[in-house]
Amino acid sequence: MRIIGRFILIDVLIRLRYIKLSKERSFELKFNKYFATLFSKYKIMPIISSKGKNMPESPIRKLVPYAEAAKKEGKKIYQLNIGQPDIKSPQVALDAVKNNTIDVLAYSRSEGSEEYREKISNYYKKNRIPIEANEIIVTTGGSEALLFAMGTIADQGDEIIIPEPFYANYNGFATASGVNIVPVISKIEDNFALPPISEFEKLITSKTKAIIICNPGNPTGYLYSKEEIQKLASIVLKHDLFLISDEVYREFTYDGAEHYSILQEESLSENGIIIDSVSKRYSMCGARIGCLVSKNKQIISTALKFAQARLSPPTYAQIASEAALETPQSYFDEVIVEYKDRRDTLVSHLQKIPGVKVGVPKGAFYCIVELPISNSDVFAQWLLESFDLNGETIMVAPAAGFYSSKNVGLNQIRIAYVLKKEDLIKAVNILKIALEQYQD
Ligand SMILES: Cc1ncc(COP(=O)(O)O)c(C=O)c1O
Repeated sequence: MRIIGRFILIDVLIRLRYIKLSKERSFELKFNKYFATLFSKYKIMPIISSKGKNMPESPIRKLVPYAEAAKKEGKKIYQLNIGQPDIKSPQVALDAVKNNTIDVLAYSRSEGSEEYREKISNYYKKNRIPIEANEIIVTTGGSEALLFAMGTIADQGDEIIIPEPFYANYNGFATASGVNIVPVISKIEDNFALPPISEFEKLITSKTKAIIICNPGNPTGYLYSKEEIQKLASIVLKHDLFLISDEVYREFTYDGAEHYSILQEESLSENGIIIDSVSKRYSMCGARIGCLVSKNKQIISTALKFAQARLSPPTYAQIASEAALETPQSYFDEVIVEYKDRRDTLVSHLQKIPGVKVGVPKGAFYCIVELPISNSDVFAQWLLESFDLNGETIMVAPAAGFYSSKNVGLNQIRIAYVLKKEDLIKAVNILKIALEQYQD
């Protein structure tokens, strides 16, 4: 040990002398180089970025290792944690890929193929959203559209206000983009309705660039009304902000409620950006196709530069997504009936459990559930590691990761009702028994 210690000391002295003598480069550079050399010699890793360190784990996926271990033990797991629909993708979309005859799987245009964008424009017009093909950029999922949107409107240190709880990956996209999320709390007691506009107004600073909403909401299932969208329109116009609306669950609304898009509001033509995706609409999460939509030409031309840097969205998946637009209305009618039935079953069974509170979703296929426990992270892990009911357990998403405020949502979980009704009933029963046995 003493010999190694002496060697390191001599090594340091020689190198420091070298640093002092050399005038060609900055001290800092040599200092870094010295430590890089030293670290590689003693097998210490170079340092990763603070951005990387700050990147949050996905609350939806972080329990996967525990679930894998539980499965290896032979437990059956009802997966309520992830929004992967069990609904079949439209046959037209699958056939379009199977039957196509392309010989070269080439890049497409960066903004997406012309034919596909024309058809998306028709889809929007059918939904009373006046969008032209040149106001659409096809992306690799709604995820990339979110990244492009943040990159297009915000600089390092800029702020975006988001009602929370919100789709957990907004935290990750904001970190990757150097943007700070400023949360405004919506409450389970109000079913997660839009917080008063005065609450937004209090948070606006010179760094605020946008408000993001998710409509209908993941994880809340809340569907903003036309009046709420108009209130948001007035505040973004008053303060010169963008309004980004994540509308990937547009079709999933219940009880006859209609979705109202921000781009149905004419006043938002310069300020509005829609994030969209085929993932949930057509149960095509693996296609990885979405789009960014705006009537603001500068937004489109700037987002296009991000799109050019990554070359193009996937070609086969655009073929499938283009064909999916031919999906008959009957497909959606059946899917909506199915989800509504699941929602009703889930909510009514949850409401029977003592101490459980649930926000009733008006859209999408998620709900936030408040449990009589203190920490849902611990509880969710316990469900996988230490609990089963006749060899079965459930996997849920702890809700704290859907908030950016610290220590909020600790007693909440998010449930995705993407399982068949019978399985949902079994899953809620497992939750009930687990709560009875759990020692908080
Ligand atoms: C609200 C919301 N936005 C965006 C996405 C991203 O979707 P994708 O990248 O699969 O299109 C998801 C996925 O679950 C979501 O729930």
